[in-house]
Amino acid sequence: MYKLLIRPVFFLFDPEKIHHFTFSLLRFVSKIPLIPSFLKRLYLVEDKRLERNLFGLTFKNPVGLAAGFDKDAKLYNELGNLGFGFIEIGTLTPKPQEGNPKKRLFRLKSDAAIINRMGFNNGGVEEAVLRLKKNKSVLIGGNIGKNKITPNEEAVTDYLISFNALVDYVDYFVVNVSSPNTPNLRELQDKEPLTKLLQVLKDENSKKTKQKPILLKIAPDLTNSQLLDIIDIVKDTKIEGVIATNTTISREGLTSENKAETGGLSGKPLTNRSTEVIRFLAEKSNKAFPIIGVGGIHSAQDALEKLDAGADLIQLYTGFIYEGPKLIKNINKAILKRSQA
Ligand code: FNR
Repeated sequence: MYKLLIRPVFFLFDPEKIHHFTFSLLRFVSKIPLIPSFLKRLYLVEDKRLERNLFGLTFKNPVGLAAGFDKDAKLYNELGNLGFGFIEIGTLTPKPQEGNPKKRLFRLKSDAAIINRMGFNNGGVEEAVLRLKKNKSVLIGGNIGKNKITPNEEAVTDYLISFNALVDYVDYFVVNVSSPNTPNLRELQDKEPLTKLLQVLKDENSKKTKQKPILLKIAPDLTNSQLLDIIDIVKDTKIEGVIATNTTISREGLTSENKAETGGLSGKPLTNRSTEVIRFLAEKSNKAFPIIGVGGIHSAQDALEKLDAGADLIQLYTGFIYEGPKLIKNINKAILKRSQA
């Protein structure tokens, strides 16, 4: 139904406007009695064999919603009803910020892709915390970044502020240093500043009564030698895992007219590169830490390939836009089918 009826209508409109419309629609329909349980019946696959235990958390199933969709933690319970095993909110910054001027989100239909240069538009961490205080029916990851106006030399402070604000309200953290849309952010992926940033967060975490797993989200554009550095850094700082990958700045093989837009590219053109990064990290580290695989998952087959490459969990964003919530169910069913074989 989604691909036949809903998507063709949605794709007639501006992508950012439709994003907000879908949000309001899902929130509205979820308030109608019986609709949440109907959606769950339609999309949620419940089975013990889908459960994953990682870094002290139990994920109901391994398919999550990637960061950027519910940046401000406005809709995590409703999105959970569509079958996701976990929802990652953010990227959140200490202060609210507008992000880049519109238009900043582009569909590349013939490539089954998206280019975005949103630039961490969000209402700030404090506002999100207020929303996270309500009952949560799904496991939540908190993805944190720095404000645009904060220079890289002071970035650690920004991450610390968001970490401390969210620590009692999220189940795991993601340190985002890999968005291409905040000037110079990705320089924080270099060995020295990254080690320092993660060490400071780990130290802060160790002071808490209930410590939270900390993961690092990396770009698909890192070289092999940078990926080897990442493995060293994860081992040295003892953070809990890696999310691979964020959007790419590559424009290889695109055909759509929007291909020249600046920003991060996601969706099908990213599938193979992100799987390659996952495989490299898993093999070269000897599977020393959990990996959440994300990038261009548009089918159950794409998801299985990520898991086979070494991902423990996976996340969707662009595939969810193109394929709809049925994709979540298809992936979970394919995982179950394989576990029976
Ligand atoms: C993103 N992504 C993203 N990632 C992140 O860590 N913080 C963010 O705020 C955002 N924002 C964002 C906005 C939009 C419009 C898109 C399309 C993507 C990246 C996302 O979480 C994911 O890593 C990539 O999009 C790759 O996965 P898909 O989209 O190919 O499944």
